[in-house]
Amino acid sequence: RKILADDLPDAQVIVVSNREPYIHNVKDNGVELVVPASGLVSALEPITRACGGTWIAYGGGSADRLTVDENDRVPVPPNNPSYTLRRVWLSEDEYQGYYLGFANEGLWPLCHIAFTRPIFRASDWEAYEAVNRKFADTVVAEARNERPIVLVQDYHFALLPRMIRERLPEAIIITFWHIPWPNSEVFSICPWRERILEGLLGSSIIGFHTQFHANNFTESVDRFLESRIERADAAISYGGQTTLVHAYPISIEWPAELLAKLPTVEECRTRLRDRFGLRPDVKLCIGVERLDYTKGILDRFQALDELFTRHPEWIGKLVFLQIAAPSRGTLPAYQQLHDECMRHADDLNQRYGHDGYKPVIMVAEHHSQQQVYEIYRAADICMVTSLHDGMNLVAKEFVAARDDEQGTLLLSTFAGASRELLEALIVNPYDAAMMSEALLQALTMPVEEQRERMRRMRENVRDNNVYRWAGSMLLDAARLRKRSDLDRATG
Ligand code: F6P
Repeated sequence: RKILADDLPDAQVIVVSNREPYIHNVKDNGVELVVPASGLVSALEPITRACGGTWIAYGGGSADRLTVDENDRVPVPPNNPSYTLRRVWLSEDEYQGYYLGFANEGLWPLCHIAFTRPIFRASDWEAYEAVNRKFADTVVAEARNERPIVLVQDYHFALLPRMIRERLPEAIIITFWHIPWPNSEVFSICPWRERILEGLLGSSIIGFHTQFHANNFTESVDRFLESRIERADAAISYGGQTTLVHAYPISIEWPAELLAKLPTVEECRTRLRDRFGLRPDVKLCIGVERLDYTKGILDRFQALDELFTRHPEWIGKLVFLQIAAPSRGTLPAYQQLHDECMRHADDLNQRYGHDGYKPVIMVAEHHSQQQVYEIYRAADICMVTSLHDGMNLVAKEFVAARDDEQGTLLLSTFAGASRELLEALIVNPYDAAMMSEALLQALTMPVEEQRERMRRMRENVRDNNVYRWAGSMLLDAARLRKRSDLDRATG
């Protein structure tokens, strides 16, 4: 907020994302408000709350149309509004082609090395382009002047920056790509690779979670577009526009207020154990995420199997609880994952379960932020074993939730968070034997060592929180604006 006031006075902030921060659904003759399971939403929501402005997103909730005004706007957060949510409506065909199709069957598997074949259909591409244009129209309609700050979020909107640039040449457009960027050879698979790069290079700044992904992007531009690349300045000039390409590791809002409201760690443990009928002496390991094939959920089951085979003394003494928020459930790859997870969980329960003991509990349901934090606090171990992930905020949330400084984090080396949370037990999710040994290390880790590791990780997340993330992008944006104002003034 201070950076905006001091360095970008009067600048209107417009956030654009596919997923909306608050979804209204019809429920039991009333309206229910849901905060979606989305790293993007948990990171951007506190920032928008602090900055004010407008958040433009797809209105997908069954009661979304009932809760907006005649301009499709609704003030949020509902209990204490500080910004405007502007909903954009999509037809069935648009949703199918742009979101399920091009974004989630094309770009999502393309950018994650998860060995799921990307599917590229011309009709999906057309829908993607049309929906990007629809959002560009909405940004222009919402802009109060020629110079807003537009924060474009994620792979749903690769074409949007250039579309906005053409109509608002003086806007500051900061695009953040929340998922990995593949190497240029993998990226070359995409039939519309040049269009995607051109679209993104309408931005003033493009941000990635890691330098590695920023470098991959620059290499892709180098290979497929005639552009000027100044590596020392991390700048790319293309089509009369210069774009900074930087790494800005995303984070969470430090949950001081939430922690103050939550039950103690001991109470959380008792409640969760009561909810699932667990003995008090059983160690609890958790996984929390959207049910997505990039998250390495099946690989966790394999590690558990390996542990029970190598160290049968843990049978009966360890339970793995998987919270899996339903996601993109109409796509075949997600349905297949759901079925496979259920099958593997059943298999492990049959082979290792006895006398009411079940080693795996699968809960494929949405949980609120508070419920998720209570689960983090109740756990002995949290497994974040993504096969590939931009950052992964579950890892940071788990650490933030543990004000008792206990609990152990197993973290995939292929998640951006592993570059920051160095005190986690870093694992390769493709190596079940290694993961089972890491599990054993976590299960037997002395409390003092847990504290030491947790203390350092907590300091890191508290200091490098989401305000710092947004602050560094806005500072870079303010510098760009100053320079262009100066250039203009000096002719
Ligand atoms: O962070 C990656 C991401 O795809 C976000 O863009 C998105 O909000 C989140 O995961 C959840 O996915 P979806 O919005 O498709 O449910």
